[in-house]
Amino acid sequence: MNYSYTDCLAIFGVGGAHPGGLQLTKELLSREKINETTSILDAGCGTGQTSAYIAEQYRCKVTSLDSNKIMLDKARKRFLPLRLPIEVKQGSTENLPFSEGIFDLILSESVISFTDVSLTIPEFRRVLKPNGVLLAIEMVLEKSLSEEELKTLVNFYGVSQILTEKEWSNFFQRSKFKHVNIEKYNLQIDENNVQNATDFSLSENIDDEFFEILEKHMHFTKVYKDVLGFRLFRCYK
Ligand SMILES: C[S@@+](CC[C@H](N)C(=O)[O-])C[C@H]1O[C@@H](n2cnc3c(N)ncnc32)[C@H](O)[C@@H]1O
Repeated sequence: MNYSYTDCLAIFGVGGAHPGGLQLTKELLSREKINETTSILDAGCGTGQTSAYIAEQYRCKVTSLDSNKIMLDKARKRFLPLRLPIEVKQGSTENLPFSEGIFDLILSESVISFTDVSLTIPEFRRVLKPNGVLLAIEMVLEKSLSEEELKTLVNFYGVSQILTEKEWSNFFQRSKFKHVNIEKYNLQIDENNVQNATDFSLSENIDDEFFEILEKHMHFTKVYKDVLGFRLFRCYK
């Protein structure tokens, strides 16, 4: 296989590429105190669906960061006609191109798993203001798997590892977040609501290999539905 799962998300331009999609994003944000003065980082923003929603809904300062150029081009294409004053930055969560203490809120939706967790989490804490909040939606391993199966999933998704809830909690605590709240969210997507339809921004001339990756992802989602879950982490600096 020449392409990664993330390349596949970028080529299809999948927006809301995290459990719960935009519906869960809205729910999470509605629990926070956000106004025009709030400074928010959408870390690993992908095609920018969440960033656009935040900027439109809250009229606050949004910064969208991703390491993937295709994702960022699609995010810019989304923001332009909406005339949203979003700052777009290419960079890595492992070495954020920001000075310390500048964000009130960081949203990281299905991103940390794809990075070196031991670098990304302290970086998020560094760029948060005192009392700032990190909201993360992350994949968790609900049940143990054979080493071989785990390796297959890690390689396919291109993640550094698949952590249990306890392992995630340890990483956050070690990075000295004052309080970490972990929630197992009962996802109930309203499929009749068009706002929850998957959002695509397709590239031209998509290689067949990308369709194979998508199929394999659907297959793994079915086979490992009780093994791969997710948690909401709310970490307070
Ligand atoms: C599963 S997608 C989620 C995208 C977006 N948050 C969403 O929910 O639609 C993971 C994203 O993380 C980005 N990413 C992976 N590693 C990264 C890193 N080290 N720094 C910044 N972004 C990264 C990928 O390019 C991709 O856009």
